[in-house]
Amino acid sequence: MKFDAFTYAGNFENLTAIQDKKNYVFVKGDICNKEQVSEVFRKYSVDTVVHFAAESHVDRSILGPAVFVQTNVVGTNVLLDVSREAGIERFLHVSTDEVYGSLGATGYFTEETPLHPNSPYSASKASSDMLVLAYQHTFGFPGIVTRCSNNYGPYQFPEKLIPLLIANALNDKAIPVYGDGSNVRDWLYVEDHCSALDVVLHKGIAGEVYNIGGNNEWKNIDIVKLVLNEIGKPESLITFVKDRPGHDKRYAIDASKIEKNLGWTPSHQFKKGIQKTILWYLDNKPWWERILSGEYIKYYHLQYSERE
Ligand code: TYD
Repeated sequence: MKFDAFTYAGNFENLTAIQDKKNYVFVKGDICNKEQVSEVFRKYSVDTVVHFAAESHVDRSILGPAVFVQTNVVGTNVLLDVSREAGIERFLHVSTDEVYGSLGATGYFTEETPLHPNSPYSASKASSDMLVLAYQHTFGFPGIVTRCSNNYGPYQFPEKLIPLLIANALNDKAIPVYGDGSNVRDWLYVEDHCSALDVVLHKGIAGEVYNIGGNNEWKNIDIVKLVLNEIGKPESLITFVKDRPGHDKRYAIDASKIEKNLGWTPSHQFKKGIQKTILWYLDNKPWWERILSGEYIKYYHLQYSERE
């Protein structure tokens, strides 16, 4: 059963491949609404929760933090309370490496790295992680936390770097690179993230945190050049724009715990993953063109007009 508020990034076209499956039901609802959540737990006898429901875009959290606190913190707390009352068997909380803050030129985030969130988004995720772990510690609640690095792949909403870059390049539009483009991210193909979650769901231990990373660090500017080159568009599309306030310099995950303890490793090589992703956006132009022609126009203007 998928329970989803279907806010701006929700899209039924993303669900067509699974909509006829016998073990799939969609329920539209808000995790902040305890009555709604309790009702679906009763109706579908929920025994396992994989909690992906979150506001997830740093730039939006800078424009308006309140909804991040509401969905990510209050919503998680509602889900935890209802799950506890229902006596569920497992609660997998999907989080982010951004809760650890920013790295310098060396070192990696391990599960022991102290939390040091720097954006309203990552602060809200750190809060929700701590709630899950506190419920486990205090109530023996079966909560587990995963923290992944930056995802990329098909169906990603074109506000995040890679889909925005592909869509703009295909439309011969300027590619906005924040600051000097030297910030580093560790990129993970979305299906590798999903396979890691599957492993943690079945083999992970309650109360534990598992980092999930691609072992795949790239400077933003190098990704932009790689994608432009793959698509056959000129580097003159690159436009350096005003930096993101408080922009984290570098993220890099040490994923040795999940690799050693649960036997997971990522299987997608980055260049192949990027090619697959570009092909998907090429084959599904109507999917992202519909997004770019809707409410997104207002967001794009708000986000980028100030940076020029
Ligand atoms: P993003 O995809 O928003 O993920 P996150 O902030 O969670 O890492 O951004 C990835 C990197 O790309 C980040 O360093 C910010 C940068 N970036 C740009 O340079 N230009 C853009 O238009 C966007 C959306 C991001």
